[in-house]
Amino acid sequence: MIIKRFLRIPKTVFSIVLFLIRNLWKAKSMPIIPKGKAEGVEFLPCTKDLAPCIVRLYPGFHKGTKLGIAKRAMLRLAGRKLCLVVEDAINKRVVGYSLYYFNYRDIREKTVHEGDTGILPEFQGRGIGTAQRLHALRHFARCQFIEGVSSRVSLNNLASLKSNLKLGFKEKERYYDPIMGEERVYLVCDLAPYRESLGSEIIDENPQTLERENL
Ligand SMILES: CC(C)(COP(=O)(O)OP(=O)(O)OC[C@H]1O[C@@H](n2cnc3c(N)ncnc32)[C@H](O)[C@@H]1OP(=O)(O)O)[C@@H](O)C(=O)NCCC(=O)NCCS
Repeated sequence: MIIKRFLRIPKTVFSIVLFLIRNLWKAKSMPIIPKGKAEGVEFLPCTKDLAPCIVRLYPGFHKGTKLGIAKRAMLRLAGRKLCLVVEDAINKRVVGYSLYYFNYRDIREKTVHEGDTGILPEFQGRGIGTAQRLHALRHFARCQFIEGVSSRVSLNNLASLKSNLKLGFKEKERYYDPIMGEERVYLVCDLAPYRESLGSEIIDENPQTLERENL
């Protein structure tokens, strides 16, 4: 048993390193998430000082499970480009977030994955969840090398499903997740319609055309 657990360590370390390389390499060519506003909240890029707030909020949306080490590291190193923070406009408390990252499938299909979106219950049902996703779609539309945003949603999560469908996500696959014990869908939102209004804001994956930014 102990040997088995010991043998798993290199595999885990390897997958964490690969996840970070893949995401930091992609984030290098991306702009920082712009600030925005909606219904009593502000949208901000996840800077290093805000990253611990996301780590604290995460278990509340995931039955107590903590955010994994790879995603925590990614938040600190590339959170400004891949994680949108929702802050209460009055008391400046962090009340939600949308976290994105690149899985293998996303690299193959030129998408970025909407890994997690959550907003505290007292802020739900006011259109904020949809507005924060919309803000992120417009942000990713500025990257020419990202063609779409992928997402996985349980069919019983009506708020999340309705919000994604309203924004243009289309169902690609329907499947049963044995770990969650739920029917889920894999969705993709094409970024082309979001790019139409952007004009010169669009960024190519060529680092020379980019303003040099620290990750
Ligand atoms: C999913 C979530 C981010 C949506 O944010 P939100 O601000 O509550 O959603 P919105 O107010 O933008 O509503 C989106 C749509 O869902 C509907 N909706 C909201 N709550 C609903 C509910 N409990 N049941 C059914 N529909 C609901 C809204 O009416 C709206 O549809 P409409 O525009 O046709 O009226 C939020 O509910 C949340 O944080 N949930 C917990 C975490 C979670 O499930 N994350 C998603 C993982 S995939």
